[in-house]
Amino acid sequence: MRKIVIAGNWKMYKTQAEALEFLQAFLPQLNQTPEEREIVLCAPFTALTVLSKNLHGSRARVGAQNIHWEDFGAYTGAISGPMLAELGVRHVIVGHSERRRYAWETDDPIMNLRVKAAQRHGLTPILCVGETKAQRDAGKIESHILGQLKTDLAEVDQENLIIAYEPIWAIGTGETCPADEANRVIGLIRSLLTNANVSIQYGGSVNPTNIDEIMAQPEIDGVLVGGASLKAESFAQIVNYQS
Ligand code: PGA
Repeated sequence: MRKIVIAGNWKMYKTQAEALEFLQAFLPQLNQTPEEREIVLCAPFTALTVLSKNLHGSRARVGAQNIHWEDFGAYTGAISGPMLAELGVRHVIVGHSERRRYAWETDDPIMNLRVKAAQRHGLTPILCVGETKAQRDAGKIESHILGQLKTDLAEVDQENLIIAYEPIWAIGTGETCPADEANRVIGLIRSLLTNANVSIQYGGSVNPTNIDEIMAQPEIDGVLVGGASLKAESFAQIVNYQS
């Protein structure tokens, strides 16, 4: 069974105090969220403890935004799987396009190693893939995504895995990918996987206005939400979309 997973990606936003303020406004609104929807908040490392403590016993789970591929070592500034697992983190974003762009994280081989590191410690990786505008215009969506999946999922167990299709041109731009096009690409991604039950999300300018149409698409199992996950009110509207 494919699960519906709605994840917020806070990026480099929210101090601990701001995270707490968000939770106080957001958590009560989960009372009306249908049971089968899994809710994840991917916070900066510094806010993970606050989330762990306050999400205990709630519907929402704690997620991180990156993971190192080694369990420990001389890697200044990095955070490993055991460190995240100890904090009660259950999900972790891997290969977000902002990491690829600003931190020069490439597919080969470190995304694959990060995915495996997450799984090794019982975390569910949310692997992000997606094309640039130039790749789309050049008709290279399929070949680009195929290449990413081939490299990032080499010898990966697809039992504990989420994929997020995030067309890079749609992230933070307000230019959402048309729902039927996102559905088409996600269908293509699914056809490349060995496990038909992997949940595949769409990400890129999701907001309370377009969520119903996105979630009405048969191939789309959830969303990864940046900007609209920062305000309790808008993220609550997204998790409580009309089905
Ligand atoms: P956005 O970000 O919703 O602000 O476009 C999505 C993401 O980066 O995951």
